[in-house]
Amino acid sequence: MKTLITGGTVVSSTGRATADVLIDGETIAAVLEPGSQLLGSDLKASVDTVIDASGKYVIPGGVDPHTHMEMPFGGTNASDTFETGTRAAAIGGTTTIIDFVTQYPDQNVLDQYHLWHEKAAGNCAIDYGFHQILSDIQDASLTAMDELVNEGVTSFKLFMAYKGVFLSDDGQIFRAFQKGAENGALMMMHAENGSVIDVLVQQAITAGNTDPVYHGLTRPWQMEEEATHRAIMIADVAGTPLYFVHVSAKQAVEQIAAARHRGSNVFGETCPQYLYLSLEDQLGAHSDQWGDFEGAKWVASPPLRSKHEGHIEELWRALRTNELQLVSTDHCPFCMKDQKELGRTSFAKIPNGIGTVEHRVDLLYQAVATGKLSLERFVEITSTTPARMFGLYGRKGVIQPGADGDVVVYDPNGHTTISAATHHMNLDYSAWEGFEIDGRVHTVLSRGKVIVDDGRYVGAKGDGVFLKRGLSQYLV
Ligand code: URP
Ligand code: ZN
Ligand code: ZN
Repeated sequence: MKTLITGGTVVSSTGRATADVLIDGETIAAVLEPGSQLLGSDLKASVDTVIDASGKYVIPGGVDPHTHMEMPFGGTNASDTFETGTRAAAIGGTTTIIDFVTQYPDQNVLDQYHLWHEKAAGNCAIDYGFHQILSDIQDASLTAMDELVNEGVTSFKLFMAYKGVFLSDDGQIFRAFQKGAENGALMMMHAENGSVIDVLVQQAITAGNTDPVYHGLTRPWQMEEEATHRAIMIADVAGTPLYFVHVSAKQAVEQIAAARHRGSNVFGETCPQYLYLSLEDQLGAHSDQWGDFEGAKWVASPPLRSKHEGHIEELWRALRTNELQLVSTDHCPFCMKDQKELGRTSFAKIPNGIGTVEHRVDLLYQAVATGKLSLERFVEITSTTPARMFGLYGRKGVIQPGADGDVVVYDPNGHTTISAATHHMNLDYSAWEGFEIDGRVHTVLSRGKVIVDDGRYVGAKGDGVFLKRGLSQYLV
């Protein structure tokens, strides 16, 4: 099966050009001058399918390196399964996810890893890899790290928050960092000071402050800055690179930037919710349907930050200047009905997370449309860098001969209105309701197969395969 994508503007992280893309089977075979011939004959005549991309951008499929499909959390499970979540991702122009295998303290790391394979295998619309979450790290978890790296799970997330659930103390973190320094894995950190936050949460509840907005008010930016600094120092002593997930506070960015300026291998991602939404949106969110509890829709950790403190502007600046390297979604959806509602009596019982996997490419393209990011930087932070950061580059993150045929035809003249009425995530509300995007995902190919055609999903459950990842290509 040969497919030719003709006449579009092919965009990479380093430039753009009008070109034709030839995909042979699952792989990109050539990127050619428009109208090129093959052995003297018209190329169009020799392929099975021609996709006309005139007037559109041809970009590498999105790589979302932070999702939580079916994650057990707060007494319930994230509402998207691998089937529904990856289908929604595909419709939104993402062709690879890296999901977090979740391990709670009473669980065996490798058992959880095998369980994640069972959940995902045969169900995914797009290709997928895994990171491993390590909670309350013990000797067995450290041993499992070596085994997992050999399996292509080359990154591990640790938590400085969620005491008694995910949190590891500084000594445990140090030991895991030393193991990472030894086996080459990329260590990832949820940086919030869980001990102080727990006190603030208890004090708020005792004072009767139980509305959703207190989730944000009890997780101040100082506790993200402090944890970020502490983790950087611990990583420095252990001699390991460090990647910060879901960076939300400008002060955390300053810590990451300072470490990078010192020459440390320190990296950070942020997420659309921190780039576009604020605590004030959450405070002001009232509707007849959900009453004051509507703010639960935006409960995630770290929380949305106040728009009066300048975080949003600094996150965009940091993305432009490479102080932050990429944007993931931290897709962790919980429906209002029966899930977020678990926290009606106390914000502390609201399952943490926001669902965005379908909208990341659009939301970041909107930054191109409004002049915040260049087209090339948009490709870099949504596809190329996540692929490189997590050992997939060459196969993913780029349109070049030999790469997987993961391609998105993006229409800059199209329009998208985000709404729960039209989205494909298994979620009964949208954190992005009413957002307007000056562009639209038109066609999506995953390893050469068209899975989205003119915005319509035409793929099949099980199209996606597990990706055994290499070590991060950012590390020396
Ligand atoms: O609120 C969030 N972010 N939920 C998902 C778990 C995590 O910490 O990434
Ligand atoms: Zn986290
Ligand atoms: Zn997460």
